[in-house]
Amino acid sequence: MLDQNKTPLFDAIMYYDSKRPAYFRIPGHRYEKGINPRWREVVGDKIFGFDLTETPIVDDLHNASGAIKDAQDLAAELWGADYTHFLVNGSTCGNQVAVITTAVNGEKVCIPRNAHKSALMGLILGGARPVYIAPYIEDEWGLQGGITAEQAEKMFQENPDCKGLMVVSPSYYGITSNIAELARVCHSHGAILMVDEAHGAHCYFSDKLPGGAIAQGADIAVQSIHKVTGSFTQSSMIHVKSELVDKAQLEANLHLVQSTSPSYVLMTSLDMARHYMATEGVMMIDRALELARDARERINSIPGMRCATKEDLEGKAGIYKLDETRLTISAARLGLTGFALKEMLFNDYNVDLELADYRNVLAIVTFANEKEDLDRLVEALADIAKKYESGSPLPPARRLPAQPEFVITPREAYFSKNKRRIAWSDCRGHVMAEYIAPYPPGIPLIYQGERMSDDVWEYLEEVRARKGHIHGPSDVSLETVLVVD
Ligand SMILES: Cc1ncc(COP(=O)(O)O)c(C=O)c1O
Repeated sequence: MLDQNKTPLFDAIMYYDSKRPAYFRIPGHRYEKGINPRWREVVGDKIFGFDLTETPIVDDLHNASGAIKDAQDLAAELWGADYTHFLVNGSTCGNQVAVITTAVNGEKVCIPRNAHKSALMGLILGGARPVYIAPYIEDEWGLQGGITAEQAEKMFQENPDCKGLMVVSPSYYGITSNIAELARVCHSHGAILMVDEAHGAHCYFSDKLPGGAIAQGADIAVQSIHKVTGSFTQSSMIHVKSELVDKAQLEANLHLVQSTSPSYVLMTSLDMARHYMATEGVMMIDRALELARDARERINSIPGMRCATKEDLEGKAGIYKLDETRLTISAARLGLTGFALKEMLFNDYNVDLELADYRNVLAIVTFANEKEDLDRLVEALADIAKKYESGSPLPPARRLPAQPEFVITPREAYFSKNKRRIAWSDCRGHVMAEYIAPYPPGIPLIYQGERMSDDVWEYLEEVRARKGHIHGPSDVSLETVLVVD
């Protein structure tokens, strides 16, 4: 047992800061002295002393043997892993590393169609051949559900040479798959289970939550510590608990996707967030749950408004458990799309939610929310419900398009020398050289190397028409796209 009260990286930096050597290294700002005074005036000076480079005192992320190693070991113990690496390029680089450590150069790897675009980037980097698997769709809320053990078993029967399976659990909406069952299936085929747990680092701290992936048998879990606990944006962790994962290759792969000048501000924020979770996590998560449960109940008592419950979702569409700190809210009965509701909440009530889809908006509740935040959300929803009480129900959502035809691997398409720019209106039937993902949540509807179908085109055309935010194409207005001849 390690002493979770320790904060090795924070302490090392505080010690270095107390020495205040004459500084001739990078970064150029020499503690706070080179920082624009306008910024210093607002935020104070102390934080800038944390922005250092590798010194013997503060260790080196790429060859950790001191304070960073100790901080990572504490994190590994807390999340139950064999070993943990800090990530300064978000779960984005963690997912890339998970994929390229599992399969490269034409080897097969199974990727869910609700994967974040970072999984696709891993396919491009490593050149693995994807086998796609689609989560079930929960029709009432229009949400992507889970991946089941039966689906995974069928996929391995059809692709016995598949090296691993990735699942997103929990999803943005707090939907989990049954990780223990998926781990059992993967391991019976000698394959690695990678869990994109970007939204799930807090699930280890309450038995009222779905439970953590590593605790349930996943080989690799990638967590955006910044999304659900108290670390800074871009700071994440990759945890490994496995005999199947090549540790040396994984570490080498981390060099490929991370800066050689990793931010000590980000890494310290991971050390401190780990300490906070270790010492007060259970209480903090309980608090978040209490706030979310109370708000859910109040929203569900507003005529016309609905907030998804465990009873609404669990056991349907491959959904194992729901993380109740995610509030999926719908005003579809009042005729409001999620897009309209989100905009109204922000513009008219100063309430800012994480994302919207056609039917729903999503509020993420963390331990750091105040009851007053939830009160403001509930009151705004009540007011909106009153204004729209005579609205008629929203027509059903357009179904997510079927998976388009696979033609060449994402890497072959991405690096093809036969790329050509054509009008968006002409791209049906062509093989795409770019992925296209409405953002958030950043889930590609078409990957590089797939043939543009009518189905996907019409879906994206709707996003384009309402000027939805799109990631992937170099022409984000989607007037033109790159295709492969
Ligand atoms: C499911 C999922 N995976 C991975 C990521 C990438 O995480 P990060 O922002 O930490 O790079 C996101 C970001 O939104 C996500 O939603």
